[in-house]
Amino acid sequence: MQVPFLDLKTQNRALKAEILPLWEEILDSAAFIAGKHVSAFEEEFASACSVKHCVAVNSGTDALRFIFLALDLKPGDEVITVPNTFIATTEAITQASGNIVFVDIDPETYNMDPTKIEAAITPKTRGIVPVHLYGQPADMDPILAIAERHGLWVVEDACQAHLAEYRDRKAGSMGIAAAFSFYPGKNMGACGEGGAVTTNDEDLAAKVRMLRDHGQAKKYYHDMEGYNGRCDALQAAALRVKLKHLPAWNEARRKNAKRYFELL
Ligand SMILES: Cc1ncc(COP(=O)(O)O)c(C=O)c1O
Repeated sequence: MQVPFLDLKTQNRALKAEILPLWEEILDSAAFIAGKHVSAFEEEFASACSVKHCVAVNSGTDALRFIFLALDLKPGDEVITVPNTFIATTEAITQASGNIVFVDIDPETYNMDPTKIEAAITPKTRGIVPVHLYGQPADMDPILAIAERHGLWVVEDACQAHLAEYRDRKAGSMGIAAAFSFYPGKNMGACGEGGAVTTNDEDLAAKVRMLRDHGQAKKYYHDMEGYNGRCDALQAAALRVKLKHLPAWNEARRKNAKRYFELL
C-alpha cells in the first residue's frame, strides 16, 4: 500500500464547506488585498500564539527577512543560527546584510545546542536564531539567558512550529520576534503562499507592516523602501478556518507520532 507523505486533498475536501463561502464573499467584494479577513486572522493568530502583534506576510521567508531588516542589521553584523534548517533561515540573514555564524545541533533534539553558543559569540554578534524544527521548540531558556547576558536579541524561526509549546510558553512568543510559514505543506498551510511575524514589540511590528507594503504606513507615503510582501485575503480567510482546527490536528499528530515511536 502506498501511503502519501502528505495528503492535502483529504484536508481540503473536509474544509471546502467552510472555506468556499468566505472565498465567495471575497470574490463578490473584490477586496483581495488586506481587508477584514487579513486583520481578523492577524488578531486570531496573535492570540493563539500569546503575543500582542501578528503581521501577516506572503511567506515565512519574507517574515524572517522583514524581521532582520526591521532589526537594522548592518554589513558585518553576525547572527548565530543552526545549519540544520531550511535555507530560508540563512537566506533571510544574508539578504538583510548579516553574516551567518553556525553553531551545531544537539543530536538528541536536532535543534540548536545551547552549550555551543557562547564560543560563537564575537563583538560583532547581534542575535541568535533558534529554529523550532519539526514542531519541536529549541531549548529556549538557556538560549534566552545567554542572549540576555550578552545583550543580543533572539528571533525564533517558528516556521515549522505553529502552536508548539515550550514549558507553557507558545513558540513565537519567546524572542523579540518570530517567523511563521504557511506554505501548504506546513502544520497549518495556506492554499498558496503565506507567512506571519509575531512579536510583543510594537515598533518592530509597525516596521514589519511597512516593509511588507513598499515602506508605506499611509497609502503613497513611502517613508522608506520596502517590498511587496502582503498576505492576500483569500489566504487569510482559509487560514482563519484552519486555525480553528489546528489544536486538534496537532494533537492527532502527537498521537500518531507516539504510535510510530512505540511500534518502531
Ligand atoms: C525552518 C523554516 N524556515 C523558513 C521557511 C520558509 O518559509 P516559506 O517557504 O513560507 O518561505 C521554512 C519553510 O519552508 C522552514 O521550514
